[in-house]
Amino acid sequence: MTQLNIVILAAGKGSRMHSDKPKVLHALAGRPLVQHVLDCAVALQPQQVCVVYGHGGEAVPQAMHRYPAKFVIQEPQLGTGHAVQQAMPHLPDEGRTLVLYGDVPLIQQNTLHQMQQAGESLVLLTVNLENPAGYGRIVRNTRGDVTGIVEEKDALAEQREIGEVNTGIMLVPTKALRAWLADLRNNNAQGEYYLTDIVGMAVQQGVAVHTVQPAHEWEMHGINSKQQLAVLERTWQQVEASRLLAHGVTLADPARIDVRGRLNCGRDVEIDIGCIFEGEVMLGNNVHVGAYSIIRNASIADGTIIAPYSLVESSEVGANCLIGPYARLRPGTKLHDEVHIGNFVEIKNSEIAANSKANHLSYIGDSTVGSRVNIGAGTITCNYDGANKYRTVIGDDVFIGSDTQLVAPVTVGKGSTIGAGSTITRDTPEGELTLSRNKQTTINGWKRPTKKI
Ligand code: UD1
Ligand code: CA
Repeated sequence: MTQLNIVILAAGKGSRMHSDKPKVLHALAGRPLVQHVLDCAVALQPQQVCVVYGHGGEAVPQAMHRYPAKFVIQEPQLGTGHAVQQAMPHLPDEGRTLVLYGDVPLIQQNTLHQMQQAGESLVLLTVNLENPAGYGRIVRNTRGDVTGIVEEKDALAEQREIGEVNTGIMLVPTKALRAWLADLRNNNAQGEYYLTDIVGMAVQQGVAVHTVQPAHEWEMHGINSKQQLAVLERTWQQVEASRLLAHGVTLADPARIDVRGRLNCGRDVEIDIGCIFEGEVMLGNNVHVGAYSIIRNASIADGTIIAPYSLVESSEVGANCLIGPYARLRPGTKLHDEVHIGNFVEIKNSEIAANSKANHLSYIGDSTVGSRVNIGAGTITCNYDGANKYRTVIGDDVFIGSDTQLVAPVTVGKGSTIGAGSTITRDTPEGELTLSRNKQTTINGWKRPTKKI
């Protein structure tokens, strides 16, 4: 295959979004529109990627600075041909240039590969629409060869009947593209320099024009409004849900799951309604995720049950654990196998070894917890003195009574027991009972106050 350069047009204003943010930075499936396109572009391993931006100041280059792309400003915006022209000084003559759009986020690598393989010269991505209104039409001669693209506003009545439209995505020999762009004129209905006019020029010069259609129509859908964004988001979520179902995942309702990243599942995974998966998530075999749970950048090993309304973030959860309902695992949580974390328990930056339990109303932060530990209801690790954070270490086989405060830095010795209601400020000896509590007293004959009239 010939050498590839990619130009991503992203200078449009997007006034119909009614937003101060550049259109291409609005998110679909948790990622800015233009980031979807950049991810796809980079995966094709091109020589050069050029993003043409315009509105919103430096917001687009700043947001996408991690990508190995050249950011070129187009100011003013005089049409798609003018936009591509801005990128030309940065592209080598060799090979071909693929034109993509920052607001057409779901174009798939497969379709672009097909275009690369369709021919050596000019390749257009076209699609047949029931309702082609608004799109440039693909004009063909009686032999069926493409002779040009006519924009709707410039089209004759009979050309408007054509159902085959230009998606805008095209692959063009770069050296010829440079020459054709230099010859563009803006004597058309919109007074713009149309990229589409290069097709007629190619045909004039006897250059073969090939067309390819995308595997799915949604690949060419562009975003101009919040309505279109919402519709395409649902389309994409259906695609994700179908992929999971095809892989054998049980979804209580494929219309009520949101995947904003990559969700990898083992066998016999079950996901109830309303769950959100963000970033990289791995669910092992037989994992069940309860309703309305949110799992972000986490791995959950085989047989673990996440009960409803749990939030798991940047955590590693072992096998056969029971999490939730209403559990919150914050970044840096590592749970070994068969750990139970119950309702209203928050864990942060802590490692909990196998078979330990914190079932009710606790905060465990910056802690190392051994195996077979029972953390009673209401236990709090006091990890912060207002300025610095300290660690709590709890040995194997410890039993911590309810409503205990462990004031870090502190170590609770192996096999020891802490009496309920204690405030532990010093290390506790292994195997002993430690408690800090006022003695219980009874005041004989004490009377409750009565209401004064
Ligand atoms: C364009 C095509 C049309 C095609 C349609 C598909 C041209 C002349 N027409 O029409 O054949 O059916 O897309 O959606 O190319 N942009 C810039 N700078 C500019 C102008 C546009 O970056 O100066 C970007 C926009 O941000 C947008 C894309 O190019 O992402 C398309 O521009 P738009 O004005 O929407 O083109 P259409 O009129 O829809
Ligand atoms: Ca458009």
